[in-house]
Amino acid sequence: MSFWNPTAAEPPSEDVVDVANRYSPRHVLDVGCGTGRNLVPFDRPGTQLVGVDRDPEAVDAATSRFARSSADSVQMHCVDLRTFVPDHEFDLVLCYGVLHFLSRDDRGNAYQRFRSWVTEEGLVSVVMFNSLVPIPEDLRDLMPDPATDSSELLEAFADFRIINYSSYVYCDEHENGIRHTHSIDRLLAQRV
Ligand SMILES: C[S@@+](CC[C@H](N)C(=O)[O-])C[C@H]1O[C@@H](n2cnc3c(N)ncnc32)[C@H](O)[C@@H]1O
Repeated sequence: MSFWNPTAAEPPSEDVVDVANRYSPRHVLDVGCGTGRNLVPFDRPGTQLVGVDRDPEAVDAATSRFARSSADSVQMHCVDLRTFVPDHEFDLVLCYGVLHFLSRDDRGNAYQRFRSWVTEEGLVSVVMFNSLVPIPEDLRDLMPDPATDSSELLEAFADFRIINYSSYVYCDEHENGIRHTHSIDRLLAQRV
C-alpha cells in the first residue's frame, strides 16, 4: 500500500460510531475507505454502503470484510476520489484521514464534490490534518500541501449546519515506534 492504512483489526472511529447511533443514513459513502473500518457501524439492514479507495489492497481488504454483510448492498470501488462519479446521492459522506494527501486545488474540488453528492439534510463527516503543527518531516512527501489551518474546511461547508466541530493537537505512535504530532480538524456538518 502506498499510504499508511489502519489495519482491518482497527476499530471504527468513535465519532463515526456516534453518527451511526444518532442517525439512520440509508446510503453511506466512505471516501478513501481504506480497509473499511468506518463503514462497519452502518453494516445493518436497510443500508447501502459504498467505499472508494485508490489502493487495490485496501479495497480487497474492505471487500473481504463485508463478504457477509447485513447491509442491503455493499460496493467497493478501486478508484481515485478525484475521478469517482457516483450514480446516486448519499445521506452520509465520510472522509477520514484522506484529504491532507491532496493538493489544495484537488481538495477544493473534493469539497465541492462532497457537497454535490450529499442529499438535502444529509451529513458530511471529514477528518483531516492541517499544518498548524508542521507536518512531520517523514510525512511531508505524502502531504506536501495540507490546509494551513481549520478555516479551509470550515469555509468549504460554511452554508451547512455545523453539528460537531473540533480542532486539536495530538500525538500518535505507529507500530514501528515512530511518534508524530498532528494538528487535526474533525467536522460533522449537515446540508440544509
Ligand atoms: C490513512 S488511510 C485512512 C483510511 C480510512 N479512511 C480509515 O480511516 O480507516 C488513507 C486512505 O486514503 C486513500 N487515498 C489517498 N488518496 C486517495 C485518492 N486520491 N483517492 C482515493 N483514495 C485515496 C489511501 O489509499 C488510504 O487508504
